[in-house]
Amino acid sequence: MSIPMQWTPTHGEPYRPVPYRPERMPAEESLARAAELRERMGRRRTVRQFSAEPVPEQVVKDAIACAATAPSGAHQQPWTFVLVKDPQVRRRIRAAAEEEERISYEGRLGEEWLAALRPLGTDGVKPHLTDAPALIVVFQQRYWLGEDGVRRKHYYVDESVGIAVGMLLSALHLSGLAALVHTPSPMRFLSEVLGRPANEKAFAVIPVGYPAGDCRVPDLVRKTLEQVLVEI
Ligand SMILES: Cc1cc2nc3c(=O)[nH]c(=O)nc-3n(C[C@H](O)[C@H](O)[C@H](O)COP(=O)(O)O)c2cc1C
Repeated sequence: MSIPMQWTPTHGEPYRPVPYRPERMPAEESLARAAELRERMGRRRTVRQFSAEPVPEQVVKDAIACAATAPSGAHQQPWTFVLVKDPQVRRRIRAAAEEEERISYEGRLGEEWLAALRPLGTDGVKPHLTDAPALIVVFQQRYWLGEDGVRRKHYYVDESVGIAVGMLLSALHLSGLAALVHTPSPMRFLSEVLGRPANEKAFAVIPVGYPAGDCRVPDLVRKTLEQVLVEI
């Protein structure tokens, strides 16, 4: 197995094209794979009640590696995935998140936001932060920060990290694991608890695991293809 090349920061280097010749998939196989993927992805649900059963750590790491193949603005890969294993740190995150969420659900969100959340049955109690066997906190690197303190602008950070998280969720789901995108608001406490540098801002907390035996999910209806697709 060849040793993968280590990424090092680049800036202003010349364009160096290399050949790209992916194997062409026959249309029939493409159709079959697309239909299967559509069906499998359609079965993904956000899980909020997790079993404490451990998950194979390599599956989670492989999913993070998949996410890190995401396209990004100017290929700046502006993401950091923190896999939190330490139960004590998980408890600190839960306590801080529940404190923020309590204030949010008690009124900070406002009536319109609370009304939007009502069908999901969520509240300020977040057991998944300590129950799920794996916890990934995704940070976006708002700018690049060199060891010598040099800063460089990052482009399309929200879009890039959003795409990476989408790929992470897909990889986890297709590998048989369930996840939740949790966005406690505000999320500043995560930088402090996890000791992240000044250029990183928390994007989402993603508990990962198997659904609890008595897991329930809201009875949601997704938009049909016809409702989301415009063909011109
Ligand atoms: C950006 C984003 C933020 C979210 N934040 C939360 C959250 O803080 N708490 C929560 O319980 N679910 C959260 N969710 C999950 C959504 O509620 C969920 O994806 C939606 O209800 C659709 O359900 P499904 O994922 O099962 O299709 C979030 C999802 C996204 C994409």
